[in-house]
Amino acid sequence: MVKDEKIVLTGDRPTGKLHLGHFVGSIQNRVKLQNEADKSFYMIADIQALTSNADNPKKVRDNVLEVALDNLACGLDPKKTTMFIQSEIPEIAELTVLFLNLVTLARLKRNPTVKDEMKDKGYGEDVPAGFLMHPISQAADILFCKSTIVPVGEDQKPMIEQTNEIVDDFNRFYGETFNHVKHLVGNTPRLVGIDGSSKMGKSLNNAIYLSDSYEEISKKVMDMYTDPNHIHVEDRGKVEGNVVFTYLDIFDEDKKEVSELKKQYEKGGLGDVVIKKRLIEVLEKLIKPIREKREKLAENPKAIMKILEEGTMYAKKIAKETMLEVRKAVKIDYF
Ligand code: TRP
Repeated sequence: MVKDEKIVLTGDRPTGKLHLGHFVGSIQNRVKLQNEADKSFYMIADIQALTSNADNPKKVRDNVLEVALDNLACGLDPKKTTMFIQSEIPEIAELTVLFLNLVTLARLKRNPTVKDEMKDKGYGEDVPAGFLMHPISQAADILFCKSTIVPVGEDQKPMIEQTNEIVDDFNRFYGETFNHVKHLVGNTPRLVGIDGSSKMGKSLNNAIYLSDSYEEISKKVMDMYTDPNHIHVEDRGKVEGNVVFTYLDIFDEDKKEVSELKKQYEKGGLGDVVIKKRLIEVLEKLIKPIREKREKLAENPKAIMKILEEGTMYAKKIAKETMLEVRKAVKIDYF
């Protein structure tokens, strides 16, 4: 049955620590939505991480704790959000198998997120089948708990579109079972990397992490791309495409002062070091409380695993209920 509830689900692949791109693209929304939702779920997508890391299970395993810490440090509250591990819910795999029949190979190959990542990873035609079909398994992640809202970065939009196509086919073939889902993208859907390239990414080596120290933040900001023609303080500088200003626009709360600085920079007479120093302080103000909370939480990994275990137990209960309904709808409820 389709219910009229606000059910939020989102997740991260445990392949590394999370960065500012995750924060503005999705984490801020997760933290906000957990207060408004009827139910809120956060999934650590270890099975999805394995679709491109089959040969490196240790990396995936080690990062389960890291992404949990990042989210908790940013304010995800296990009392409000069910935090769980994907691989512990076999019902998601079962639902994936049923969904596989509703999607063609051609459609998967057209999914822009899959296409981009296949290019990044250099797969060509030799793409692991599991990787190619991960949008289908992501639809199962989203639908096993009948979620209706998915806060994600902009790169994940095609996944939600594909999920809604699966919803349509499923409901048409087997009766009304799932709701359409909405994606919710943060105020900054895509954060540029510190090198000015279009996207901040771990594999691109251009990220500022939510766990970075003051020294790391300083070094990264000092290395940031500005305006290559702004050589002397008195030179006129360009603000568009200048990563330091892009970041100040996003993270500096004092919009008026930023606009003054921009004017000054364009006129000449404002050095890169001044604006970089300002950005360092702005980012440190944001990251310091997260880093400190993270360090404290990291002292007790057992407590974090306990949170995940309890969340997983609850998610399993929900998954069982959905699968009973799904099996009945697909007429594979024999005994
Ligand atoms: N694909 C997402 C990412 O790489 C992670 C993810 C897996 C996810 N399952 C999900 C996100 C379900 C939202 C909903 O960031």
